[in-house]
Amino acid sequence: MDQSNRLAIRGQVLQFTGDPFQVGTDSALRFWSDGLVIIEAGVIQEVGEAPALLARLEPSVERHDYPGRLIMAGFVDTHVHYPQMEVIASYGAQLIEWLNEYTFPAEGKFHDRDYARKAAQLFLDESLRNGITTSAVYCTVHPESVDAFFEVCAPYDLRVIAGKVMMDRNAPDFLTDTAQSAYDDSKSLIERWHGKGRALYGLTPRFAPTSTEAQLEAAGALWQETGGVYMQTHVSENRQELAWVAELFPDCDDYLGVYEKYGLLGPRSILGHGIYLSEREKAVIAETGSAIAHCPTSNLFIGSGLFDLRASQEHTEPLRVGLATDVGGGTSFSIFGTMRAAYEIAQLQSFSLHPVQAYYLATWGSARSLYLDDKIGNLVPGLEADLTVVDLNSTPLIAQRMKHAKDLEEALFIQMILADDRAIEATYAAGRRVYQRES
Ligand code: GUN
Ligand code: ZN
Repeated sequence: MDQSNRLAIRGQVLQFTGDPFQVGTDSALRFWSDGLVIIEAGVIQEVGEAPALLARLEPSVERHDYPGRLIMAGFVDTHVHYPQMEVIASYGAQLIEWLNEYTFPAEGKFHDRDYARKAAQLFLDESLRNGITTSAVYCTVHPESVDAFFEVCAPYDLRVIAGKVMMDRNAPDFLTDTAQSAYDDSKSLIERWHGKGRALYGLTPRFAPTSTEAQLEAAGALWQETGGVYMQTHVSENRQELAWVAELFPDCDDYLGVYEKYGLLGPRSILGHGIYLSEREKAVIAETGSAIAHCPTSNLFIGSGLFDLRASQEHTEPLRVGLATDVGGGTSFSIFGTMRAAYEIAQLQSFSLHPVQAYYLATWGSARSLYLDDKIGNLVPGLEADLTVVDLNSTPLIAQRMKHAKDLEEALFIQMILADDRAIEATYAAGRRVYQRES
């Protein structure tokens, strides 16, 4: 066999064998303290004990050795806004004011393709520096911002989802489209980008208040016409937003009912936040196979509220939930920081999110929420080789704390509470190293 496109990565290897919320945290993981991941043509071929696998590997196969480092699946960010890097850490506003004061003016600049390209490159660099290999991304209302984003992503061959924001009311003129132009532009962007390499398109009606009924109807129609495309939006994030939606859509039972009415729920529908969902809404999310993107740093920072993760998993039919940074409402690209915030929010509700549950949410669980768990989010043969390499002793404090870690679970917990981008030593996409930390 031709060995030239094969790569073997050695280190401590972490693999999920199930959903820890369902099978329990003791039976969801497999771990090799000296493991090997063999990759061929961008796909994981074998995972297991290094000495045994190396004994039958051709010596000519390229090797990347990371002794003492943790090799795990690349992180998956299920909801993020690339044009909002410049408003991250904006002071003193809750959702609606935050959008009007900070976000909309910033997004206005993305009609300029060069501006958008520079921002997209910065976003991608930052994502890879944080070990994120898949993101579901909101661009802006401008089709140029979407072309720029996918163009910048193309050379990295990332499994990425992105789309043009659709918004035709309750926003400044320089940021609005129409029902028809949103339909036409989204359609041609789908033709241009969906399925190109590993890229996927996400129809992106921003949220109910910024779309007319005509636009939501057009979005629903386009989604039904196009196979495999995603649909991403926001739902039930903030109390003032809830009251506004009730005013704007008096004939709908509740917030989710708006998306339900226009055929925007189902597999590959990603709903950001979902903090104040009623039992009816949760049941509809479960029945339709839609997913919630839990955005903990954003929910804390914008003061939106506390998502009830435990209830979502203890629901009669557990909801698909992914983890998300929601930059720039969110305050960090670090998935460690995002897991920490998810832990803290759960603690405030007397639920101690277990590290195995948190890492699952950050990888395979998020992939499952996106119906991509047969492609990404885990280190098993047949999946695409998106990996991150974690330095478990990235700062003096962490190194000191790690000396007292009694087992793998505690080591994982220490990382999710204390680590940040400095802990990401390398990131691989489709079997190629796309980020290497400077030594
Ligand atoms: N709701 C509508 N748009 C946005 C946005 O850009 N960020 C957040 N967090 N919520 C929203
Ligand atoms: Zn958002």
